[in-house]
Amino acid sequence: MTLFDHPEFSGHEQVVFSHDGATGLRAIIAIHNTSRGPALGGCRMWPYADETAALEDALRLSRGMTYKAAMAGLDLGGGKAVIIGDAKTDKSEALMKAFGRAVDRLNRRYITAEDVGTTVADMDTIRTVTDHVVGVTGGAGDPSNSTAHGVCIGILAAVRHKLGRDTLDGLHVAVQGVGHVGRFLCDYLHKAGARLSVTDIDRAALERAERDFGAAVVGPDEIFGLDCDLFAPCALGAVVNDATLPGLKCPIVAGSANNVLDAARHGAALRRAGILYAPDYVINAGGLIDVARFALGFDIETARTKLHRIDGTLTEIFARADAEDRPTADVADAIAEERFIR
Ligand SMILES: NC(=O)c1ccc[n+]([C@@H]2O[C@H](COP(=O)([O-])OP(=O)(O)OC[C@H]3O[C@@H](n4cnc5c(N)ncnc54)[C@H](O)[C@@H]3O)[C@@H](O)[C@H]2O)c1
Repeated sequence: MTLFDHPEFSGHEQVVFSHDGATGLRAIIAIHNTSRGPALGGCRMWPYADETAALEDALRLSRGMTYKAAMAGLDLGGGKAVIIGDAKTDKSEALMKAFGRAVDRLNRRYITAEDVGTTVADMDTIRTVTDHVVGVTGGAGDPSNSTAHGVCIGILAAVRHKLGRDTLDGLHVAVQGVGHVGRFLCDYLHKAGARLSVTDIDRAALERAERDFGAAVVGPDEIFGLDCDLFAPCALGAVVNDATLPGLKCPIVAGSANNVLDAARHGAALRRAGILYAPDYVINAGGLIDVARFALGFDIETARTKLHRIDGTLTEIFARADAEDRPTADVADAIAEERFIR
């Protein structure tokens, strides 16, 4: 396994491999960049096939956090931790404490948070051994509502730019995934007068969306080809790909999901197809802004102001993409790179 030649290595400042014999902890903490402030990013616990897969995830996700924090105007850098193991069978209080001690040794260069496979209760456990954790009980809690609020603000910016409309009233929005964020998003959109089509693989979640928001339910594959005003991916990554892109009939793609597309390949293809893409890490930063409030100690009004800035940031990206005839994802990366020192 190589690090410096790894395809996902992008000038990371520090990568820490942490082991604890007593608890079986095997963790990787990747600190991509701290030029704006301490690196904040979740701790993911996942049964990775091997260390190479775990390293790849840590490198990729920590880099993404640098860009997300910079675009949200937060005095934070990008980091991410991964614990190799199955959260259902391998997790213990002692293991989370051992991880917390590894975080503590980094002296606030890295601040951890909840992610896939970790919970608020785990953050509470980590908090017993280090201060460098957010998302604990009584703190930010579940950031999904803030994420959805930010996505809704971003959707309006995209609609204004692409459709020349200042309201979501009567728009047809296709939402993929009505889980934590998707459900809050449906609520915001429904209240704004949008007509919803939704899909999910969870029957109960679909029934709730049907009942609460009058949403029309469509099949998981059908959502891509729907004739609608906007497609909001709120489930998995990589949903705009070689197979789905040619069938998209929407003029806008804007949702909460991370890593919606391979920017290098599909950003330009979306632009050629006349589809406006709201870059994922810009539009879905609401949750990060929420937890950053606790890491950096700013008040709720400041958080609200930062959340509403998603509108202005996206509007700037869309305008620059048009002026330079470039994919929005490229423009977002370029603006983010102006905001941290590499
Ligand atoms: N939670 C946050 O605050 C936050 C912040 C930033 C980004 N995100 C991203 O937003 C997305 C959603 O996050 P979440 O917290 O709501 O997750 P979640 O697990 O609560 O919801 C995801 C939903 O997608 C559904 N789903 C899974 N596979 C599907 C498929 N093939 N077709 C249709 N639906 C499918 C699931 O059943 C679930 O209901 C993720 O990509 C996440 O990384 C979340």
